[in-house]
Amino acid sequence: MSSVIIRSAELSDARALAKLAARTFEETFGADNSPEDLKILLKASYGEAQQAHEIADKDVRTLLAYLDKELIGFAQVRRKIFPTCVVAQNPVELHRFYLARSAHGTGAAEPLMVSAREAAQELGGLHLWLGVWERNPRAIAFYLKSGFTQVGSHNFVVGSDTQTDWIFIAPLPKAGASST
Ligand SMILES: CC(C)(COP(=O)(O)OP(=O)(O)OC[C@H]1O[C@@H](n2cnc3c(N)ncnc32)[C@H](O)[C@@H]1OP(=O)(O)O)[C@@H](O)C(=O)NCCC(=O)NCCS
Repeated sequence: MSSVIIRSAELSDARALAKLAARTFEETFGADNSPEDLKILLKASYGEAQQAHEIADKDVRTLLAYLDKELIGFAQVRRKIFPTCVVAQNPVELHRFYLARSAHGTGAAEPLMVSAREAAQELGGLHLWLGVWERNPRAIAFYLKSGFTQVGSHNFVVGSDTQTDWIFIAPLPKAGASST
């Protein structure tokens, strides 16, 4: 396959990112959630202004993935609050990790994860944690093969529906650590 290019998002990317985010969100969760619940979450979490706000946040890093010049995925890490089951030094959250459906299984997820880990380290992270819906087996399989382990679960509200997210965590190399 062609190689995947990953770069940091800039403010001028907010519109394209909002469009991709809405598309991937619907592709991922549309079949298993009511349209009303999805609409509420989409409105609260995505949109050009919201993406611009997040891109500008100094505690957030947003990454874009391109394949043949087409925007096919994005990831976001952030240094914010974390659930009590995350008992680890300097945890940074993998808040978003999405590929367009057409890019699933192409190998693009791996370099995006490498870049997400590097961005988390830039935020001072020593551990990367995430929440994944218990009914998202493909993402769960990907995180497990990427070295994450489950440490707990918490509730995640989608409109009128309270769902269970599994909380996963993986260590990050210490800044400046050498493998030799
Ligand atoms: C999560 C995501 C980035 C992973 O990228 P990907 O290209 O699909 O990942 P891969 O194909 O490398 O790995 C997925 C693994 O799940 C396996 N898999 C696929 N469907 C599965 C299922 N229903 N049950 C269990 N495993 C499944 C695949 O076989 C693959 O394992 P393998 O490499 O051992 O064969 C991508 O699927 C995605 O963007 N999904 C939609 C968004 C999403 O769910 N994001 C996570 C939010 S927390």
